[in-house]
Amino acid sequence: MNKTLVLLCAMIVSGITLMTSCSKDSKKAGLEYMPDMYRSPSYEVYSPNPLFKDSMSMRLPVEGTIPTNFVFFDYPNTTEGYEAASRDVKNPLESNPENLAEGKRLFEIFCVHCHGSKGQGDGSIVALGKFPPPPSYSKGASSRGGLMKELTDGKIYHTITYGVNLMGSHASQLNPTERWKVVQYIHELQHDGEPITATADSTKATTDPAKATALVK
Ligand code: HEC
Repeated sequence: MNKTLVLLCAMIVSGITLMTSCSKDSKKAGLEYMPDMYRSPSYEVYSPNPLFKDSMSMRLPVEGTIPTNFVFFDYPNTTEGYEAASRDVKNPLESNPENLAEGKRLFEIFCVHCHGSKGQGDGSIVALGKFPPPPSYSKGASSRGGLMKELTDGKIYHTITYGVNLMGSHASQLNPTERWKVVQYIHELQHDGEPITATADSTKATTDPAKATALVK
């Protein structure tokens, strides 16, 4: 075979390929080499799916699924849950200066404007007269009984997770590890103030929702 013949054959073959691989219908791909390589038989994330009753391709996780490394806090947002957490739950983090420093940093972002830098319930929004003072961590009494100074790991963690009365939940702002670091820092603040003298006044402002709402407005 001489060179011209080889060239001619190559031109004929590529000409036929070009002609047959194109289609007049713009919606049709024409002749495709190994079409599965281009068009996956799998369903697209948002495409309807006849295999499921609800026709959703993207499935929900099986009920009860827990993300990796998720720490389960199985205590409901009730007084019983609060007491049970107090009894059973201990801070799983090591008590060290790094965790304490991070707890302080987070406290000064998320809590300080109400609780004050020393945890005395005199944060900036309280000073403005827009919010009733939360009880002091070292001198006040908890609205759920007992002294703030004696709040346990579990009670503080429960409070950060669910909130209490006027204090909202901080679960979406702080992940469990961060919450535990803040808990460690609260324990520091519990021992900062003057000797314990729990007064009725320290909780009165926050336990009267009508008065509290008026103040918030
Ligand atoms: C919007 C203001 C506000 C913010 C922000 C806030 N708190 Fe509070 N907190 C309160 C008030 C008010 C109370 C008293 C609620 C009551 O007992 O009626 C309280 C109570 C508490 C208590 C005592 C709970 C108990 O068992 O009596 C703890 C502990 C606490 N807060 C921790 C925190 C921590 C930690 C943060 C930050 C992650 C935080 N709070 C952020 C207002 C706030």
